[in-house]
Amino acid sequence: MALLDLPLLMKDAVRGKRSAVTCQLKCASQCAFGECNSSDNPTFRDIASSALTRRAVLGGSTAALAIGLAGTQGALAHPAAGRQDGTGRGRVDRRPPNGTKLTFTPIEPVPATVDELTVPEGFAWHPVIRWGDPLFDDAPEFDWDAQSAEAQKRQFGYNNDYTEIQELPGTDGLRAVMFVNHEYTNENIMLPSGTDAEEAVEIGRAAHGLTVVELERSSRTAPYRYVRGAELNRRILLDDEFTLTGPAAGSELVRTVEDPEGRTVLGTLGNCAGGLTPWGTLVSGEENFHAYFRSAGTSEAEQRYGLRDAATARGWENAHDRYDARNEGYENEVNRFGYIVEVDPFDPTSAPRKHTSLGRFKHEGANIIIAEDGRAVAYSGDDEVFDYLYKFVSRDRYVEGDREHNMTLLENGDLYVAKFTGNSPESEIDGSGAVPSDGAFDGTGEWLPLVVDGESAVEGFTVEEVLVHTRLAADAVGPTKMDRCEDVEPSLHSRRVYVACTNNSGRGTEGKAPADEANPRTENRDGHVVEIDEQGDQTSTTFAWNLLLVCGDPAQGDQTYFSGFPADQVSPISCPDNLAFDSVGNLWISTDGAPSGIGYNDGLFRVTLEGGSRGRVEQFLSVPVDAETCGPIVRDQDRSAFVSVQHPGEDGEWGAHTSFFPDFDGRGPKPTVVQVLRAPR
Ligand code: FEO
Ligand code: CA
Ligand code: CA
Ligand code: CA
Repeated sequence: MALLDLPLLMKDAVRGKRSAVTCQLKCASQCAFGECNSSDNPTFRDIASSALTRRAVLGGSTAALAIGLAGTQGALAHPAAGRQDGTGRGRVDRRPPNGTKLTFTPIEPVPATVDELTVPEGFAWHPVIRWGDPLFDDAPEFDWDAQSAEAQKRQFGYNNDYTEIQELPGTDGLRAVMFVNHEYTNENIMLPSGTDAEEAVEIGRAAHGLTVVELERSSRTAPYRYVRGAELNRRILLDDEFTLTGPAAGSELVRTVEDPEGRTVLGTLGNCAGGLTPWGTLVSGEENFHAYFRSAGTSEAEQRYGLRDAATARGWENAHDRYDARNEGYENEVNRFGYIVEVDPFDPTSAPRKHTSLGRFKHEGANIIIAEDGRAVAYSGDDEVFDYLYKFVSRDRYVEGDREHNMTLLENGDLYVAKFTGNSPESEIDGSGAVPSDGAFDGTGEWLPLVVDGESAVEGFTVEEVLVHTRLAADAVGPTKMDRCEDVEPSLHSRRVYVACTNNSGRGTEGKAPADEANPRTENRDGHVVEIDEQGDQTSTTFAWNLLLVCGDPAQGDQTYFSGFPADQVSPISCPDNLAFDSVGNLWISTDGAPSGIGYNDGLFRVTLEGGSRGRVEQFLSVPVDAETCGPIVRDQDRSAFVSVQHPGEDGEWGAHTSFFPDFDGRGPKPTVVQVLRAPR
C-alpha cells in the first residue's frame, strides 16, 4: 500500500492554487463537493421581513425584539464612518497606534516564491520549538530518515496552529507554559516515500493532538526556548481519554460499543484556533473532523457535516474500526468530534474535556469574555462556506479566584446563532464590494436562540439533538450564511467582537446565496472582518455591526474597504484567519490563503481600531513558501510577537520540497513556533 493513496486525492476537483494533496489532507477537499449547507434557510433579506412572525413561533417576545433593534440602529459610529475608501480625505496619523511600544516599519508584501520568514528592519526571528523536537528526557532526537510512531509520541507534533503562552508565577517572566494544538499532518512531505503504510498511519496519528511545554528565557529581551523534560510538558494523543460534558454527554447520540455510557472519547481531531479562558485554561476548536471518518453518508446529519462513503486520504479507517461509521457499534463515533475542547495546562494529569454545550460543528475555535453580570460568553465560528456564527452564554457566573468553579462554566448555558441585517438598500449591495451610499457596510443583528435555560428553542429538536446536530438545528431558525467564520475574538479593551470571514468563492454564484451587506462580495476571494458591538451587554440578544475591513490588494485593482482609511496607504491583506489583540487594544490578524489570492506569502498584520487612523493595516511579518500564519501572540510590552508557522512547503512532496524552513539544511520543512524580537543593536 502506498504511503498515501494518490488516486483518491481528487486531483482535478479542487479550487484555488492549493494542491490536490493539500486539500485532501486539510479538509477532505470539501470545496470539491459543494457547500454542506444546502438548506433552504433563506437569505437574511427574506428573513428580515418575516422575523417577527418566526420569533413568535419560537416563543420570543416580539415587543422586546422591536425595542432591541431600535436601540441598536446605526449605533456603531466611528470617527472614520462616512468616509469613502481611497479618497485620502482626513489626515493620516503616523504615531504608533494607542501608544504601543511595538513600533516598526511595515514590510513590503513578499512574493509567494520566497522561502523566508521576513520581519521588519531591526527585528530578528527565533524558532521556539519545531516539529519533532524531543519534549521529554527519554524522547529520541528527530531523525528525518528514521521517524517512528513511538518517537513521535514523545516529540512536538505537526502543523502547530493555536498557540498561547502564560508566564509562570514567581519566575519574573523568565519561565512560561505554552499550549499548542496540532491541526493536521502533511504525510506527503513528512515521511520518506518508502515508509511502511501502517507505520505512517500511526506516525500521523501521533503527530496530531495537543502539546503543553514549558519555556524559559534569560531576560525579557531574550528569546524563549523550550525546556526539554520540564514538569508541565505533556503530549495529549489520539488514544487519550477526553471527558464529554454538558447536556449531550451520555446521550444515545454519542454512545459507541467502546463507550456505552457516552461520556469518554478517545482523542481530538482537527484542532484549529483557540482561546485563553479568564481562569487560565485553553479552549481549542475541533474543525475538519469529517476528514478522518468514512461513513455511509446517507443521513441528513452526515451530509450536513460533509461525511461521505469514500476512503479518507490517510486511511485510518482501515487500521482502526472507530474511524469507519459503517462498522456496527461505531455509528456514533463521529458525533464525538466537532466540539470545543478545554485543557488545563497546569495539571498534567487532568483529562481534557469536550463541552457539548457549545454545540457541534466545524469549530474554528472559541474565545471567551466575562459579561457584565459575570456569565462567561464564548464566541465561535463554523468554518465552512455559508455556515454560521455562534455565541454561548454560561448558566453560572464567574467567581474571581475560584478556579475549580470557573472550570465548570462551559458545561451549561444558552446557545445562539447570528442573523445579520443590513441597513443599506439592496440595490447598493451589488456584489462588487463598493461601499454603499451611507458610507459603511453596517446594520443590526440578532442572536437567535438554539438552547435557552436548558430547553431546546428549536421546534422538533431535543436539546441533545441541537447540541450534536447543531448545523441542522441552526438551519431551522434562519441565521445568516457567512463567508467562512474563522477566529472570533472579543476585545477586552472595547468589548467589541471581531469576526474573521476568510473567503467564499461560491458567494453569489449560481444557486447559492447572493451577496448581502454582511458578506458583500460575489465570489469573495479575499475575505473581510466584521465588528460586532453588543453595547455593554455581552449577553444581549441584539447587536450592531459593521465591516472593519473588506480585504484585498487595492494596487491590483481589488475593491476593498479599510473603514475609510486611504486604501493606497495600507498593506494588502487577504484571507484573514486568526485574530489577537496587543496590550493597548490594537487588532492583529494572521492570514491563510494569500498565495491563492493575491500572490504573496501569508503574514501577520496590525490594524488600528481607534482614532483617525482606524482601518490602517500594517504588515509585520511574512511566512515562508506555502505556509499559513497561525496562533499570533503579541507582547508589545516586550516588543515581541509569536506566530505558529503552519504547513511550510505543504505543496511539495518527498524529494521535491518547496520549503526548507526553519533550518534550511536541505532536508525539508518543519512547522515551527517562532518568536520575533527586536534584534540586539
Ligand atoms: Fe483550520 Fe479554519 O482554519
Ligand atoms: Ca450601510
Ligand atoms: Ca484557522
Ligand atoms: Ca483558514
